[in-house]
Amino acid sequence: MKLFVALFLEAFFMLFVSSHAENQYKAIYSGIPWFDQNNKEVNAHGACIVKEGNKYYLFGEYHTDTGNAFVGFSCYSSSNLKNWKFEKIVLPMQADGLLGPNRIGERIKVMKCPTTGEYVMFMHSDDLKYNDPHVGYATCKTINGNYEFQGELLHKGKYLKKWDLGTFQDNDGKGYLLTHEGFIYELAPDYKSVNRIVFSEAVHGGEAPAMFKKNGTYFWLFSNKTSWERNDNYYLTAQSIKGPWIKRGLLAPQGSLTWNSQSTFVLPVVNGKDTLYLYMGDRWSYPKQGSAATYVWQPISICGDEISIPKFCESWQIDKSIAGWSAVDTKAKSIKEKYNIERGVWKLDNGIQKSKEKDAMITYSFRGTQIGIKALSGKTSGYARISIKNNENKEIINTVIDFYSKYEYSSQKFLSPILKNGNYTLSVKVLGEHSAWSDKRKADYGSTDDYVMIEDIYTIE
Ligand code: GAL
Repeated sequence: MKLFVALFLEAFFMLFVSSHAENQYKAIYSGIPWFDQNNKEVNAHGACIVKEGNKYYLFGEYHTDTGNAFVGFSCYSSSNLKNWKFEKIVLPMQADGLLGPNRIGERIKVMKCPTTGEYVMFMHSDDLKYNDPHVGYATCKTINGNYEFQGELLHKGKYLKKWDLGTFQDNDGKGYLLTHEGFIYELAPDYKSVNRIVFSEAVHGGEAPAMFKKNGTYFWLFSNKTSWERNDNYYLTAQSIKGPWIKRGLLAPQGSLTWNSQSTFVLPVVNGKDTLYLYMGDRWSYPKQGSAATYVWQPISICGDEISIPKFCESWQIDKSIAGWSAVDTKAKSIKEKYNIERGVWKLDNGIQKSKEKDAMITYSFRGTQIGIKALSGKTSGYARISIKNNENKEIINTVIDFYSKYEYSSQKFLSPILKNGNYTLSVKVLGEHSAWSDKRKADYGSTDDYVMIEDIYTIE
């Protein structure tokens, strides 16, 4: 009897734990941090997704807030693309070599090789100044196991001196490596070397390549070369992977800077009889990439051989509607009047709480399950630390938000995961810092000041 009760309790506990991991969010959000089952930011940048059974596995660059050196590649899993469970670091920094100390590891892409059944992971490795680019690969027998780094991907015995990369797997199982400037390399049947170059120099200066295929048309996405700064990404189409590749146009409205993102991958999501194509982009935030860089995931509209992301959808879900997706409306109740200035000077300007003073802090107490922040973003915006404490003063959320954008706009910038119904305090602390960096060509990017401009604070009902 005791054993039965223990088993029952354990089963109940497991159910609670696993359902908890699936219950953080009700939609796919863009441009805000997502929290995993441990309330830590989902840290998987320059990412890709592989579907296995009924689970999606997200692989990406695991960043810190202190530097750009490679620490590892992460893996998360989800059954609905909304709630992500941290699986583990599937490939950590190596003792030495291409992914050893003081190296770069970026743009991880994983494909399952149909001939060997192995998972093959490709990545860009470099020195800290981006002067020693290589394409490396790692392999694993299981999708979320420990990947073993195998070294260089070779073509005719020579290494590939390439940086930004992507992958594409065609319906016939052939695997391709895509690189900056528009190169396509056909991989050997085991995906462990390059067989031949299929196309060269499709675009000048193109980075962040991503490819997908619909009804026989190949679509190839690129960003422009502006380091981590956002730009207007564009696409090419072809009827054969061998080309000819035709330059088509921008992916999103001109000046939206691809809704403030850079392409990394397109995931086909089979949805009933149709397939939805999910654009995955990065909203980088150097130097605080670990906590403040976010993801822009949007449904792609496809009409024949034209594609676009005409509108930015803040929260949406995949469903069986005609478009294959729909916006998720959340009922929000403003609590912005219930604030406490804890520290520093905040100026209330047209309903907007504004400060750029280091350590200036404002708090909001609330009762409920979820809280959000709407803010103005602009070219003088900086970082703020957001924390949520429960009624025992225990911190359950702690993250950094980057409010920077090259153009001014207003949007949701933070949303907590769904919490246990209770009393909480949210605090916003101005860091007096902003995202900014220079690339190796000495061009300067990022914000110019430290403003935090809060328009609304609301609970979700
Ligand atoms: C971008 C590239 C990123 C990263 C960055 C560093 O152009 O797409 O993956 O390498 O440069 O500046």
